[in-house]
Amino acid sequence: MVKIKTCIFISGKGSNLNNLIKKSRDYNFPISIDLVVSNNPEAEGIRHARKNSIPILVVNTKKRNFENKILKILKEKKIDFICLAGYMKIISKNFLINFRKKIINIHPSLLPKFKGLNTFSRIIKNKEKKTGCTVHYVNKNLDSGNIIIQKVFYIKKSDNEEILKNKTQYLEYRAFPEAIIKVFRKN
Ligand code: GRF
Repeated sequence: MVKIKTCIFISGKGSNLNNLIKKSRDYNFPISIDLVVSNNPEAEGIRHARKNSIPILVVNTKKRNFENKILKILKEKKIDFICLAGYMKIISKNFLINFRKKIINIHPSLLPKFKGLNTFSRIIKNKEKKTGCTVHYVNKNLDSGNIIIQKVFYIKKSDNEEILKNKTQYLEYRAFPEAIIKVFRKN
């Protein structure tokens, strides 16, 4: 099966990256992971790429043209799809034009609720009854593109931020691969 060449952008732990690397080995999974981009040279997730011999590009976001450097390498490697998995930078309009409808992101809330950072503390403060995760297309507005998939769970009184985070991530490991399958499903 011909797979879609994909790049995963990370900034931290990379547990979603690791999960997608494993899934991408399934014969029927639509993407292969051909590059990992990190804006953080210390990102733990880099070791998952290294262990699996996936090329890694670490970029210095303090340099004005860092996105052009990424774009150049993405073109060289014929990357056709991008997954943001905990990437903590905003993608510029210019970058989006080059990958129109080809960038997806995973967010730890039921969008449109709780866009942005510090989601779990806000969810608790707001006394939400349920939460979950969302995989969505990336557009020029933060956490606002079309939703591909959401997964939900009910919050218990005993759930603190740490527990919410763990429960959400557990769902993310199912949601991200399912969303990718949905994106490339031929009707
Ligand atoms: C995920 O929880 C995702 O929702 C958010 O960043 C986190 C990344 O976790 N955007 P990891 O680096 O994949 O472990």
